[in-house]
Amino acid sequence: MNKDDILLLLRTSRSGFVSGADLAASMGVSRTAVWKHIKALEREGYRIEAIPSKGYRLTTTPDVIVVSDVKRGLRTKTVGREIVHHTVIGSTNTLAMELAQKDATDGTVVITEIQTGGKGRLGRTWISPRGNLYLSVILRPAVPVHKAPLITLMGAVALAATVREHLKVPAGIKWPNDVLVSGKKVGGLLTEMSAEPDRIRHIVLGIGVNVNMDARELPPDVRRAATTLAAETGAPIDRTSFVKELLAALDNWYQRFLQDDSEVLKAWEGLNVTLGNRVTVSGTGTRLEGLACGVDAEGRLIVELNDGRRQPVAAGDVTILKTEGPGSGSKGPG
Ligand code: BTN
Repeated sequence: MNKDDILLLLRTSRSGFVSGADLAASMGVSRTAVWKHIKALEREGYRIEAIPSKGYRLTTTPDVIVVSDVKRGLRTKTVGREIVHHTVIGSTNTLAMELAQKDATDGTVVITEIQTGGKGRLGRTWISPRGNLYLSVILRPAVPVHKAPLITLMGAVALAATVREHLKVPAGIKWPNDVLVSGKKVGGLLTEMSAEPDRIRHIVLGIGVNVNMDARELPPDVRRAATTLAAETGAPIDRTSFVKELLAALDNWYQRFLQDDSEVLKAWEGLNVTLGNRVTVSGTGTRLEGLACGVDAEGRLIVELNDGRRQPVAAGDVTILKTEGPGSGSKGPG
């Protein structure tokens, strides 16, 4: 029993009040232990009224992800079997990599409200204020090492599908894994891996989503190209239920990936906004321009250069130069 159990009892009390004695009895702990948990909740931003003759009453709930609510009714095979929640950490990916090295269960999820050292692709910083979603999933797939990039595409499919189905917002994917709405970035994924030449030890799939943040917290150059789910729907998003839907989608797509990874590529193609357009790819030292004409079985982008050669690209930043034809609008995961 912990402070989440106290929270549940307070939130489900009919009169609003629960006496200290009842809380202590339900949890099998002393009233002093209950009081310590109440103080811990207050430090997290909960406001709890204490009236001697009546007991405790929850008056204000902060906008935090409530793990006990995420877990309740979450029927996944792998993802979310363990959930670790923090208020502030450096990076969920870094913590997840550490936990994975210490034999954390396959599917363990690390979530935080704020990151002080959030990591983006290509060595960039991921600005991580309160109000958004920052999570990492530890996965131990028994697949060859060269299949690892497909895990990132799988995560992008799950995120875009959740935004589309749960929030009815038409999200698409820009190669490799930027989730866009109205041409602006709403989420990104960063995968880290520990592997031997012929075996994946573990993969950490990190997902950052702009949910309820105030976009003014972003530097102007980032702000121009970014949006939030709240801005797109016109209302604040319940992050707890969004996380629950996202974990269910990740689990579903992960099981499909393990059975037949071509399904992930097919779904990614159905959601992509890159293929069929002229693009530039930069960010890794070289810059190339051409027609984005496909992804190969390992998730590399195939760019047809002006001289007709087809160049596979494993990493980089894509800029869409001109929208050409049906690949420009995402259709859904199919
Ligand atoms: C990108 O550059 O588009 C990828 C951004 C990935 C950010 C997420 S937030 C949760 C996880 N922890 C990190 O430090 N990074 C990823």
